Amino acid sequence: MYFFRFGRVRVFGAFALVLGLSSSACVERKPSASATQTAASPQADTYATPAPDSLRAFADQQKKFIGTALATWHFGKPNYKEISAAHFNSLTAENEMKWEAVEKQQGQFSFAPGDALVAFAEQHHMRVRGHTLVWHSQLAPWVKTLSGDKLRAAMLHHVKTTAEHWKGRIAQWDVVNEAIGDDGELRKDSPFTALGKEYIAEAFRTAHAADPAAQLFYNDYEAEGLGTPKSEGQYRLIQQLKQAGVPIHGVGFQMHVEPRKWPTPEEIRKNLERFVALGLTVELTELDVPVGEVPGTLAEKLEWQKKYTHDIAAACFTLPACTGITLWGVNDAVSWLSTPEWGKLRGNGPHLPLPFDADGKKKPMFDGIAAALQGK
Ligand code: XIL
Repeated sequence: MYFFRFGRVRVFGAFALVLGLSSSACVERKPSASATQTAASPQADTYATPAPDSLRAFADQQKKFIGTALATWHFGKPNYKEISAAHFNSLTAENEMKWEAVEKQQGQFSFAPGDALVAFAEQHHMRVRGHTLVWHSQLAPWVKTLSGDKLRAAMLHHVKTTAEHWKGRIAQWDVVNEAIGDDGELRKDSPFTALGKEYIAEAFRTAHAADPAAQLFYNDYEAEGLGTPKSEGQYRLIQQLKQAGVPIHGVGFQMHVEPRKWPTPEEIRKNLERFVALGLTVELTELDVPVGEVPGTLAEKLEWQKKYTHDIAAACFTLPACTGITLWGVNDAVSWLSTPEWGKLRGNGPHLPLPFDADGKKKPMFDGIAAALQGK
């Protein structure tokens, strides 16, 4: 099998020749990998033509992305790779592209784990979301010893080197993650805050120069609703960046649902719309819906989860500029909320926050997402 690059998407074999010189934007925007299917392929390619009842088949039909976050250390676990490839047409690196993974020592870059995820995505015709270039958490400790111009230079070098490494293979980068605190101002516990707001614009400009075809996102949590200091602060920040001509193309709403205080899907839709009105793409980038603190029997919890997930997914998918939703993990066993360290954020577990159970079986939540993807 041979391939060449067409726009930013690899196009395989004879089918590419048939496509000829049709617009690269058309190929690039196509969520499905079906454009990459080839009659010349030596073996059947399951993922180029996903099973008709898979999430990715429904997403392909709507020209949307349905994603999952993958971690290489789960690769050996039952059902993990199989479900990922069978149901998702987009992949986010759960940890492998974070600063502490990529540049643990200053100037020494380690790309192998991230490369493995990108290779998995390419093999299974999945889009890649790069996560994340500048973030105060999971940061290499040496970065916190720097300040002023040294910190700025280290940040820009990290952004440039990392984005250049995966140039042309990452569809969307979360360039800056979680810069804003609960009060709507730059968060106090980030070393980058001392550089002033301009650090955000600089990170975006540097990422754009390094990988001009990538869509560049600002990504954050608990800014999904309207009217909180954080969501209003995020809106002001993004508006200013757009007005200043900074190359920002999208906003990612993490959507780590907290059932005890979460906004309504209608409020979420209205919030997404005001970012779309700024000319931006929006995505839900880290969705999970924990049910540990939801009242009722297990069956009732899972029904609530199905409906709420459906309504949030529909709030996104009915907007043309809401191009995708990524689940934060594959099944309940590997969710970050199944670890005591993170699970306690959502109160008492078990949280069971994902559409597949620990055995890889579809839960009612799966049907909620599938229905939203079909416009039902
Ligand atoms: C989480 C991962 O899922 C965990 O494995 C890791 O221990 C901590 O980070 N917001 C983000 C993600 O942007 O990167 C976080 O991922 C979850 C919260």
